Amino acid sequence: MAVIAVWSIKGGVGKTTLAVDIAWRSAVRSHHKTLLWDLDPQAGCSWMLGLDCKRPPRVTSLFHRDAQATDLVLETRWPDLKLLPADDSLRSLSIALARIGHRRRLSQLTKRLNGQFTRIILDCPPVMNEISDQVIGAADLLIVPLPPSPLSMRALDAIRQELVRNHSRHPPILPVLSMYDGRRRLHREVHQGIAAGWPVIPMASAIEQAAVRRQPLGAFADWSDSSAPLQRLWDGIEAKLRLRETTPP
Ligand SMILES: Nc1ncnc2c1ncn2[C@@H]1O[C@H](COP(=O)(O)OP(=O)(O)OP(=O)(O)O)[C@@H](O)[C@H]1O
Ligand SMILES: [Mg+2]
Repeated sequence: MAVIAVWSIKGGVGKTTLAVDIAWRSAVRSHHKTLLWDLDPQAGCSWMLGLDCKRPPRVTSLFHRDAQATDLVLETRWPDLKLLPADDSLRSLSIALARIGHRRRLSQLTKRLNGQFTRIILDCPPVMNEISDQVIGAADLLIVPLPPSPLSMRALDAIRQELVRNHSRHPPILPVLSMYDGRRRLHREVHQGIAAGWPVIPMASAIEQAAVRRQPLGAFADWSDSSAPLQRLWDGIEAKLRLRETTPP
């Protein structure tokens, strides 16, 4: 079992779009029992998968000792893809975590799901606080989407510094150049410079349409030019995880 977190301290960089897409590819293309766990109270994952879940807000109760994550998991229209949806209780998650004071609670919860799922994808809010501490503690791989801009690169520096300073054993980071537009000079410069060798996800209306259609791109327009880079990204992630799973610690 592997936990993949899609996280950045910057908002609106394509985290939810990527998290939903790779979760779908994990389940549908790689046939993994996959859980997409939405940690952001904006609840974008439910929206993107076409689900409307109206129920009492209680996801944060999972972080106290009494609740079982499996009780809150929802089916999606793809049998191998399940969703642990966000709700409004997550607005107070960082306060609850500070009070609980247990830095590896999310890690414990994901480990308990081993056996039911082989891939868990975390869609994270754009924060650096108790929630990201938990995410870093739970993840086997951190995917960090970065649009080509100086502010994104500053965010990556801040993330690297945070990992070095406060997380002596942290998972590897996979930076992804997101929302790339090859017509723009700045984008090309970043792509050929600091981001050389990173996976690239183009700025594309087909990818944007996933939020309108409320389905992952591969489910409604797999033929589109934008699906191939997303599949390459997933294949690269899988290759990294398989290497880790077959390499003795
Ligand atoms: N590669 C892309 N091409 C075009 N539009 C994109 C792309 N990736 C994401 N978008 C659009 O950008 C907007 C922000 O994307 P998304 O919600 O995935 O970002 P986010 O990082 O999760 O945001 P937040 O920090 O608010 O959670 C959405 O409207 C989405 O459809
Ligand atoms: Mg999001």
